[in-house]
Amino acid sequence: MDISVEFAGIRLANPVFTASGTCGYGDELAGFMDINALGGFVTKSITLKPRKGNATPRIVETDSGMLNAIGWANVGLDAFVEEKLPILEKFSAAVFVNVAGETLDEYVTVVERLASEGAIAGFELNVSCPNVVRGGISFGTEPAQVAEITSAVKKAVGEKVLMVKLSPCVTDISEIARAAVDGGGDALSLVNTFTAMVIDIEKREPVLANRTGGLSGPAIKPIAVYLVNKVYNEVAKNKGVPILGSGGIRTATDAIEFIIAGASAVAVGTANFIEPGCAVKIVEGIKKYCAAHNIKDIKELVGSLG
Ligand SMILES: Cc1cc2nc3c(=O)[nH]c(=O)nc-3n(C[C@H](O)[C@H](O)[C@H](O)COP(=O)(O)O)c2cc1C
Repeated sequence: MDISVEFAGIRLANPVFTASGTCGYGDELAGFMDINALGGFVTKSITLKPRKGNATPRIVETDSGMLNAIGWANVGLDAFVEEKLPILEKFSAAVFVNVAGETLDEYVTVVERLASEGAIAGFELNVSCPNVVRGGISFGTEPAQVAEITSAVKKAVGEKVLMVKLSPCVTDISEIARAAVDGGGDALSLVNTFTAMVIDIEKREPVLANRTGGLSGPAIKPIAVYLVNKVYNEVAKNKGVPILGSGGIRTATDAIEFIIAGASAVAVGTANFIEPGCAVKIVEGIKKYCAAHNIKDIKELVGSLG
């Protein structure tokens, strides 16, 4: 069963990715899943310099989900190039590097350095992280700023695909999506996590040292499906820009919901912590669904909501 898809000009073996920050740089989960069985892989956010991230505790489980406030803990650009790229080079899955920064220049510098690397299919611009003081979501809530950062990075990506990752924590996500596309984004990725809080009632303090974190997992799935459908109808469909949908995907049924809502591909995040390898099962489940419904091309399913 062929479930290959075209995504912003790249042919993917199937429409399933892992989501940024939930599978490290590829080797961390290699013992649990065959990354090459997936269509794509998104790295943990990379910044110019290494970052330790926020103080702990920085994750807490919730009903049907989790909060994280990792704060871009990552090896930094130089170590990424030296130590991680050689691992990623071996993958047949399309590799997207998630890029983050505290300033516009930082985003541009990271992308400029990586744009000529053959192992990389494209970039996911993180303008939606709720867990850092500077950068992240602060770049992703104002349409003019989103357009500015997207067009600055677009000049640095060369032939690679530029995908912009959107926050759900805005008044109108379609406005932000439009700004990203107008700024030169080739694809949209949504959603990042929802800013949230868990309180320790004995201490009367937030559980996370950062006080707030980003909510992810099955709890956010129906909201994410709604937002993907909204952005598909209001922006992506007319502009011909594909969506990478994420938010609580755990099963093939979840993934197919996102595709019917308008996503051309899906990313699996939090579910990797519960069932590493579920992304590969999702690929198989989508194949079964397509066979059972006589779907010859995944394109027929994208945005087919009645
Ligand atoms: C522990 C953890 C770390 C994450 N780190 C990043 C990150 O570095 N960059 C980013 O753009 N998104 C990051 N995310 C967000 C995910 O990529 C994804 O967009 C979000 O969690 C929704 O999908 P899910 O419900 O399947 O996890 C992280 C999520 C989790 C749970």
